[in-house]
Amino acid sequence: MEKIFSIYPKIRYNKIMKKKIDVKIIGYDDFGRGISKEEGLVCFVPKTKIGYQGSCEVVKEKKNFLEGRVDLEDAPLTDCPFFFFCGGCALRHLSRQEQLDFKVKKVENLLSKNAHIQLSSPLQITSVSSTYYRNKATFHIRSHQVGYYKESTHELLPIDHCLLILEKMNDALQNLWTFAKENDGEFEVMIRCFGEKIMGVIQSKNARKPDFSSLFSLDSLYYQDQKIKGDSYLEVSVLNVRFQVSYKSFFQVNLEGMTVLYQKVISYLKETKAENVLDLYCGVGSISLIISKVVQKVYGVEVIKEAVLNANKNKEINHINNVEFACGKVEDLFSQLPSGYDTVILDPPRRGLDSKTRSFLLKSSFKNIIYISCDPATLTRDISFLKEKYVLKKIELIDLFPNTYHVESICLFSEKEEFGES
Ligand SMILES: C[S@@+](CC[C@H](N)C(=O)[O-])C[C@H]1O[C@@H](n2cnc3c(N)ncnc32)[C@H](O)[C@@H]1O
Repeated sequence: MEKIFSIYPKIRYNKIMKKKIDVKIIGYDDFGRGISKEEGLVCFVPKTKIGYQGSCEVVKEKKNFLEGRVDLEDAPLTDCPFFFFCGGCALRHLSRQEQLDFKVKKVENLLSKNAHIQLSSPLQITSVSSTYYRNKATFHIRSHQVGYYKESTHELLPIDHCLLILEKMNDALQNLWTFAKENDGEFEVMIRCFGEKIMGVIQSKNARKPDFSSLFSLDSLYYQDQKIKGDSYLEVSVLNVRFQVSYKSFFQVNLEGMTVLYQKVISYLKETKAENVLDLYCGVGSISLIISKVVQKVYGVEVIKEAVLNANKNKEINHINNVEFACGKVEDLFSQLPSGYDTVILDPPRRGLDSKTRSFLLKSSFKNIIYISCDPATLTRDISFLKEKYVLKKIELIDLFPNTYHVESICLFSEKEEFGES
């Protein structure tokens, strides 16, 4: 461990705040920060565990609450020496079971607070491997050093190893260090890895083209949207469907979790005997093409042009004929959607559905809606609208983002009987 984390001793904890208060952690907020309510004073303290009792530095003072930071010496020990400084893992100091319990409670609370729904039985959460799982990461290069941003800042935290990203990406991180040492300026580098193949995408405000030679071991390389080497996409297989994914296209960052999620989509579709399915926010067609084997027709909508190009190519390389894709914003395409579709799959970005899409769903007559969400706050807000016409039949969680406070939800809604045909 000492060897792979060789940068650690160079990190210094920046002590600038003076004011200290005593805290006792009694719970967590939605971002996994410990909550203390000592003497009526609410204080949020990241990277603390329920039961922690001691002093913390006040780093922000607001009218109704404080934000605190425990001393480095009091911080919980984890297997990552960057944990205390890094914005990546908020929950690494909790056991896996504590993390899962946190996520279940968080979603149950948001469901109750935002959608006024109390579940009759506890939410089920599926756990997946918690280390070396991410297939995509963005690094920053400043002053010849590579790293992530420190928590809630744009200050560089130099790192030479990350326990969240695939091991092969840690090799690429070493190449990035060489690149950083050899080039002046600031860079942002996105790395994506499927199997043995790695793609790097460099963006920079520097006028001068850098020397890329240290990154030629990557399979594909882009600089300022120009291809430097390799294919314009990486390829991956999920549930026996091949996907080509270009760097501008979304793809789930956790392949194991993604497989569990898509298996649940298939089981919901079978359970509701879905026939014709709209796949809104469809990306490279991952859900559309996988479910094409169990339904009659699929129509996918996606705003990113490159993703729709990937989707059409993916349809072709998998010899699938019952799926069509349209490029545009979901909220602009309602009038062009084909009729006779009984089921909608929604998989929007973190911000959830916009008001036009919510109204469209309330005016339409879909038998079932499957809503996949990576942000329970916006999901539960949307449920509060959808429940006017649809009953929430099922909600399940998948821990697609272990060690972070994020969680993936999948919901099944059915149209209320009074709105149905019969
Ligand atoms: C969470 S991803 C889901 C992608 C896909 N379902 C999957 O599982 O890979 C959300 C997708 O919605 C797309 N998107 C964002 N806003 C959109 C909009 N207004 N209309 C259509 N697509 C949108 C994004 O480009 C992204 O591909």
